Amino acid sequence: MIKIAPSILSADFANLERDIHRISTADYVHVDVMDGVFVPNISIGLPVLQSIRKVTDMFLDVHLMIVEPVRYVERFCDAGADLVTVHVESDTPENIHAAIDKIHAKGKKAGIVLKPATPAEAVLSYLEKVELILVMTVEPGFGGQKFMADMMPKVTAIRKLIDEKNPACELEVDGGVAPDTCKTCIDAGANVLVAGSAVYKAPDIPARIAELRG
Ligand code: DX5
Ligand code: ZN
Repeated sequence: MIKIAPSILSADFANLERDIHRISTADYVHVDVMDGVFVPNISIGLPVLQSIRKVTDMFLDVHLMIVEPVRYVERFCDAGADLVTVHVESDTPENIHAAIDKIHAKGKKAGIVLKPATPAEAVLSYLEKVELILVMTVEPGFGGQKFMADMMPKVTAIRKLIDEKNPACELEVDGGVAPDTCKTCIDAGANVLVAGSAVYKAPDIPARIAELRG
């Protein structure tokens, strides 16, 4: 079953509760946290996540685009995340492992994220201890960018590694996922699709979520 994770980066932040209820037929709520250092944009953080947690029981998929995420992962768990993902490029391997361990110690799911330039092999030392791997199909930082189809061989390579070493691990893609690009992601082996503008700009959001399932 393909899961859809709408990114609230494309929601109206002045009407966030309404815009979360609008995606109730989706599987996860994808929350993009940006610090203006790891990526050239600033989005939302802990207080907003706490407020979201109060108005929905949906699974909260928190994508941290921040430097040294090990400093903050426990607080994002306490604020209501169900899954916290950290970029492998955002700290040393030791600290990425420590971040994963802290998320697990809070009883939450942990994942790693790869920027477009980061090769598939970067997952190897984390693969057997994470619940999700996220492959970026745009440069992180902004919604509404063009889908990078050249990431598909990486998705396929990681799907093969997951099937061999940790079949329960989910494989997510993020960036430029839309009705014309969702099938290529699914065919490459992704089972969770993040979509921001394709969901929130759609005239009929439930129909668009169904369409993205392929
Ligand atoms: C980009 C974010 C994405 C973004 C996706 O850094 O991680 O989650 O919101 O937006 P679209 O689907 O519009 O490319
Ligand atoms: Zn994201």
